[in-house]
Amino acid sequence: MRMVDVIHNKRSGKELTEQEIQFFVDGVVSGDIPDYQISALLMAIYFQGMTEKEQSTLTMTMMTSGDHLDLSEIPGVKVDKHSTGGVGDKTSIPLAAVVAALGIPVPMISGRGLGHTGGTLDKLEAISGYRVEISEQDFIEQVKEDKLAIIGATGNIAPADKKIYALRDVTDTVDSIPLIASSIMSKKIASGADALVIDVKTGAGAFMKTLADSRELAEALVGIGKGVGMQCMALITDMNQPLGKAIGNALEIQESIELLKGNGPADLEKLIVVIGGYMAVMGNKATTVEQGQQLCEDVIHNGQALERFRAMIKDQGGDPRVIDDPEEILPQAKYRITLPAKTSGVVSKIVANEIGVASMLLGGGRQKANDKLDYAVGIMLNKKIGDSVEKGEPLLTIYSNRKKVDDIKSLLYGNIEIAKQAQKPKLIYETIG
Ligand code: URA
Repeated sequence: MRMVDVIHNKRSGKELTEQEIQFFVDGVVSGDIPDYQISALLMAIYFQGMTEKEQSTLTMTMMTSGDHLDLSEIPGVKVDKHSTGGVGDKTSIPLAAVVAALGIPVPMISGRGLGHTGGTLDKLEAISGYRVEISEQDFIEQVKEDKLAIIGATGNIAPADKKIYALRDVTDTVDSIPLIASSIMSKKIASGADALVIDVKTGAGAFMKTLADSRELAEALVGIGKGVGMQCMALITDMNQPLGKAIGNALEIQESIELLKGNGPADLEKLIVVIGGYMAVMGNKATTVEQGQQLCEDVIHNGQALERFRAMIKDQGGDPRVIDDPEEILPQAKYRITLPAKTSGVVSKIVANEIGVASMLLGGGRQKANDKLDYAVGIMLNKKIGDSVEKGEPLLTIYSNRKKVDDIKSLLYGNIEIAKQAQKPKLIYETIG
C-alpha cells in the first residue's frame, strides 16, 4: 500500500477501508509515514469528513496503537466523565467526588490545558504535593479504596493520537468533528471505564461555536462509544460565558472546595447535579435521573462528597489541609485588583474565550507547550450574565503577581458588555444518547 493512494482516495471523497486506516495509524506510530503525508491526509479528512464506519475504525485503531487499562478487578460499574473543555470548567473535580460519594467507582484520566486556562491536572497540581502520575496498580487500588482517582495518562495511551494531535495543532485541522471524536474516544476507551458521560461545550469559549456543530460532535462521540459497547451519553452545555465564577488553577480548586461545602455558584452546582444524576443511573445507584440528582444534592450538602475529595488528595500525596484552610494552603497572588463597571445596567456579555486569554496572559495558562504555570493567578467574576450592576461596582477581581495589569483590564473591558436588560443564558441545551 502507498500513502499517496490513501491520501488520493480521501481527497476524492471515498470511504477509507479498514486496511487503509490501519496502514495509516501503523505508519504514524512507527514513524514510517512522514509528517507531510500525515498532514495531507488530515487536511483531506478535514474537507471530506468521515463516515460513521471510518470514524469507529480510526478510533479503535488509534486505541489499539497503545496500552489499554484493565479495570476489571475494581468491582461495580466504572463511570467516567469527559468535557470537551471550556473556561472556568472545573466540573470534573467536584463531580468525581460527588459520584464517588454515591459508592460509584470513578477512575478518571484527565489532561492538561490546550490553551487559555489550565486543564484538570494543572488545577489539581495547584495543591502542593498532589501527584498526577501514579502507577496503573496504585490507580486501581486507590479507586477500590476511595472510589475515585484523578490522574494523567499512564504508560502509552493512544500514541497515534499524540502524534496526530500535535500535527493538527500546527496544520489548522483541530476543529474537524471526526478527528476530535476519534481523538477523544480512543483515549476514553483505552482508559477502561464501562460508562461515560460527555459534556460537549458550545459557544464562544468552546471548540464548537454553534449548536448544530456541537450536536454533530455529541452524536459522533456517543455513536463511537455505544458502538464498542460502552454506556454513553452526552449533554450540550453553555460555554458562552465562563462556568462558575473562578478562572485560574488555585482559584478553581478553592471554588471546587466551596461547592463541596454547599457554597458553590449556582450554575456549577446545577451542572454537577445534572451530570451526576445520569452517572448515578449508569452506576446503578438510582433508577431515575431525578432520583440520581437528589442523591448528588444530598452528598454535596451533607459533606460526604467533600470527604471523598479529602481522601483522594491525601492518597495522591496532596496536602489535605487544603480542604479546611484553602487560602492558607493554596498559592496566593500578590495583587487583587478590581475592575469597576463603567455604567449601570445588566451584564449582557462575558466572552468566555477572551476571559480565558486574560487568565492565560496573567500566567494561568500556557502560550507554549512547556510554559510553567502560575497557579495563583486568575480572575474571579463578581457578576455573570443577567446580573444587575451599578456604575463603580466591581465586575470582577484580577488575581495577579504583577502590579501593572492595564493590558488585562482593557482586554476584559472589551469583552464584558452591560446593557439595559439581558436574560440569564440557558445552561443545558440538549442531551444525546
Ligand atoms: N480533546 C482531545 O483529546 N482531542 C481533540 O481532538 C480535541 C479535544
